[in-house]
Amino acid sequence: MCGIVGYIGHRDAYPIIIKGLQRLEYRGYDSAGIALYDGSHINLSKTKGKVTDLENKSKSSISMSGNLGIGHTRWATHGVPNDVNSHPHYSNSGDLVIIHNGIIENYESLKKELGKRGYSFTSDTDTEVLVNLIEEVQKSEGVLLGQAVQIALNQAVGAYAIAVFDKKKPDEIVVAKLGSPLAIGIGENEFFVASDASPFIEFTNNAVYLEDGEMAIVRLGKEIKLRKIQNDAIAYPNILELQMNLEEIEKGGYDHFMLKEIYEQPRAILDTYRGRLLPDQGIIKMTGIDQNLEKFLNANKIIIVACGTSWHAGLVAEYIFEDLARIPVEVEYASEFRYRNPVITEKDVLIAISQSGETADTLAAIKMAKEKGAFVYGVCNVVGSSISRETDSGTYTHAGPEIGVASTKAFTTQITVLTLMALKLAKEKGEFSESRFHEYLTELETIPAKVEKALESNTLVEIIADVYKHSTNCLYLGRGYNFPVALEGALKLKEISYIHAEGYPAAEMKHGPIALIDEQMPVIVIATKKGHYEKVVSNIQEIKSRKGKIIAIVTEGDEQVVDLADHVIEVPETIESFTPLLTTIPLQLLSYHIAVMRDCNVDQPRNLAKSVTVE
Ligand code: M6R
Repeated sequence: MCGIVGYIGHRDAYPIIIKGLQRLEYRGYDSAGIALYDGSHINLSKTKGKVTDLENKSKSSISMSGNLGIGHTRWATHGVPNDVNSHPHYSNSGDLVIIHNGIIENYESLKKELGKRGYSFTSDTDTEVLVNLIEEVQKSEGVLLGQAVQIALNQAVGAYAIAVFDKKKPDEIVVAKLGSPLAIGIGENEFFVASDASPFIEFTNNAVYLEDGEMAIVRLGKEIKLRKIQNDAIAYPNILELQMNLEEIEKGGYDHFMLKEIYEQPRAILDTYRGRLLPDQGIIKMTGIDQNLEKFLNANKIIIVACGTSWHAGLVAEYIFEDLARIPVEVEYASEFRYRNPVITEKDVLIAISQSGETADTLAAIKMAKEKGAFVYGVCNVVGSSISRETDSGTYTHAGPEIGVASTKAFTTQITVLTLMALKLAKEKGEFSESRFHEYLTELETIPAKVEKALESNTLVEIIADVYKHSTNCLYLGRGYNFPVALEGALKLKEISYIHAEGYPAAEMKHGPIALIDEQMPVIVIATKKGHYEKVVSNIQEIKSRKGKIIAIVTEGDEQVVDLADHVIEVPETIESFTPLLTTIPLQLLSYHIAVMRDCNVDQPRNLAKSVTVE
């Protein structure tokens, strides 16, 4: 959580930092701030609110010149979101200024110690403690900024990505990372630092991602020097050439990133299976699986860990792996898994699913499983992310940057990867004949076109959204493969429109939720052909008898549900295991339109952040 940006070089730092913060707002957006060095002074402006509020405030309050600066967009942990708690934070002398993403857990005791030495604090943040600790080390040990940061961080417990500069030495920014991401962009005698590469991608494709426990002194006219925070050992920067381009991180004519990302799904799914799904050759090529085939084939069980939408993709995977590959699967919330005492053996395979690859609970679950000897496989979107580096092997989803806080294309591309994995293992295990395998592979190849078709429901969905935009509750029902889709539909609605929504297995309705149904209650039912269709139709009858309003997602040409439901949205027919890739589309659109009609901030819903790097 929180986004950080820094610049040092020959350009004006202000526009780079503001633009960079806007791109990082997905990481947090309850307050923002910037500090610029203009050659003699540090000019600092910060405010509760979004980066646009910061822009408005800065125009009237500070000089915006300077070729050195740092900026921050915040998701509050310590201290409520207000102007004072916003970053950057000064040290007591006013010489040092810092931005921080993460939590310093022992800040209370450090604060007490610094208090005894005469330091005072204006904010409630752990970050202000850290910058003063750095200053205290500088003074008491007579060392330069880099060394002071290193010594201070060795006294700090917690997680961080920080950038700090000293007005007495304005040719350098010192950065460090433990647990939160930090990338350094390398230009022609200029450097950028940021939580991800999006703030600097139009200036340079060359970047170094710090590893956990590393720090760097980014100094003009010098090469980047990395070192280990703990023991001073030199680390060698691995300079990557990034593939990301600017269009991918802009809205491209759509009103919101979420809508753009919903519409990108046909392309994203295709990119996910490109080069992997080869029906003509009758194979699925996945290096991560090929290299570790025995581990998967001999696994006692697969444990899937994830959070939020990625957890829902994991639930779909449970159906796919068990149904197609006949491998037992357990799906766990990473946050629960890491704190109970789960039975994990060396014969288990753990699959961690994460769009961002930075989710703190998922990362912790991986570390625990590795300690217990399990083989850990990652399904991530963000290339080079912490989870992709921590896992033994893995597969990228290649969905492209997902910026809307509500996950959409991440979900469908995760399911695509997991489907490829399950099909490949099913074939290797002999669960599939050649002809059945070929049938599944060719059908999977048609999914992008079918998603395109499902997107054609947009106008109808918008009309339905208008009918239900004032609802206060909503029920989502599905069975089998589409039960996780019901959960995902409900999550999408609540997170962006703030309408209370519940997802349930359709048959569970009569064990409690049916009591909620009356003429005010919209019930979204996924009732595609195959997969317990007749039973779901009975559930629809039960809702109708209680006057619930029924919005049904059905297979094209359906004749039964049409007569029962208030609204019917069709999706193309496909193999049952692939239906979640289609049925989820109208649910994404429904939550999107309702949120827009309720005037909600679709891409940046309240209290949320895209990347949850705190537990
Ligand atoms: O980056 P991850 O996939 O690990 O994120 C997990 C969840 O935080 C994420 O899916 C969250 O639930 C989304 N906001 C849902 O739309």
